[in-house]
Amino acid sequence: MSQLIPVKEFAERRRKLMERMAPDSIAIVPSAPEKVRNRDVHHQFRQDSDFQYLTGFGEPDSVLVLIPGREHGESVLFCKERNPDKELWDGFLVGPEGAIERFGLDDAFPVGDIDDILPGMIEGRSRVYYPLGRDPAFDTQVMDWVKVLRSKVRSGARPPGEFVALEHMLHDLRLYKSASEIKVMAKAGEISAEAHIRAMKRAEPGAYEYQLEAELIHTFMSRGARTTAYPSIVGGGANGCILHYIENSSVLREGDLVLIDAGCELECYASDITRTFPVSGRFSEAQRQLYEVVLAAQYAAIDAVRPGNHWNHSHEAALKVLTQGLIDLGLIELSLDEALEQQAYRPFFMHRTGHWLGMDVHDVGDYKVGDAWRELEPGMVLTVEPGLYIAPDNFSVDEKWRGIGIRIEDDVVVTREGCRVLSEGVPKTIPEIESLMAG
Ligand code: GLY
Ligand code: MN
Ligand code: MN
Repeated sequence: MSQLIPVKEFAERRRKLMERMAPDSIAIVPSAPEKVRNRDVHHQFRQDSDFQYLTGFGEPDSVLVLIPGREHGESVLFCKERNPDKELWDGFLVGPEGAIERFGLDDAFPVGDIDDILPGMIEGRSRVYYPLGRDPAFDTQVMDWVKVLRSKVRSGARPPGEFVALEHMLHDLRLYKSASEIKVMAKAGEISAEAHIRAMKRAEPGAYEYQLEAELIHTFMSRGARTTAYPSIVGGGANGCILHYIENSSVLREGDLVLIDAGCELECYASDITRTFPVSGRFSEAQRQLYEVVLAAQYAAIDAVRPGNHWNHSHEAALKVLTQGLIDLGLIELSLDEALEQQAYRPFFMHRTGHWLGMDVHDVGDYKVGDAWRELEPGMVLTVEPGLYIAPDNFSVDEKWRGIGIRIEDDVVVTREGCRVLSEGVPKTIPEIESLMAG
């Protein structure tokens, strides 16, 4: 149960979704399935983000059904029944009555009865919204419910004719974060910032990357964020040039940088922070020069996050600063215009400057509307994460640059005036980092 998002907000989200649904339609939203890890051990359960967004209900084997205008309640939940014998082994179940009382659903039934009840709810509705094509087993199940109605047309049953992916409508709602969602995300950012500081303090030559990862997890867990939002990246030296390096098994060496990209998940909301710092606490001259370029690019990109600017503005701002920096340091031998035109930065910066952030680390929501980049609006949350990665085998640049990987990433919410950084609790200027590590 969400501690930070009130029950009535979930009802409000369902209402907003139903307002956008066609009249005479029904939406069916399943929970995430439990997944076997090995033999009788399951992976840690993580609720489906869409289902969580609409219910706050954390159990598997549940299905939310939205039926605008239904007399006995528009929001219906199917979930497991209470069962003292099972609960003794596997823990507390909310049950249909609890779902109504505690989660504000209008109506609820045991999920074991869904095949008997749901076809009757679909009957007479012309359109069915559901996560079409996401899970073949669920696609089949929806069609099985519809087949029940098709077999009864001679008795007057009216099966639906249209099946529409739910995601587009729902994901547009998820893109705009409410005040309480931003509160959760700010708290996640604060916890992750504290974790990064702890890991920075632990770094020293001879430590293993996974030992820094352990420090991150320690802070996440201690502060109530029981899982990471994605596998933590802790890359020392040239490992920092591998964008999704999660092996985290190498030893950290004197003179190298270490790149940590890690964020906790709190109440199903992600944070996503990257910091890069010297293993031994002091940047070398080459590291310092590249770092200052990335930091300047990040400031320029954050500065471009404000209402009225579009999604790509901050990427363009970062590209300009990164490219000019590479020219000034002699890694690119072209004019700025030529280098941007030819994308000469690509061997050193090959990803986007950010992504939407929310319940999913790479969150949902369109980046373009038609052919145009999406305009930023208050409540949208995104990351700003420029980097420079000089491959260890890039023989076209001076040796001193090779094997240096740097990324600086913060989480930023668009406000009416501009933006607010949700992850600023962890230092990122060179003097701040060096002074923290010296302490
Ligand atoms: N940690 C994944 C990303 O930064 O996009
Ligand atoms: Mn990241
Ligand atoms: Mn990111």
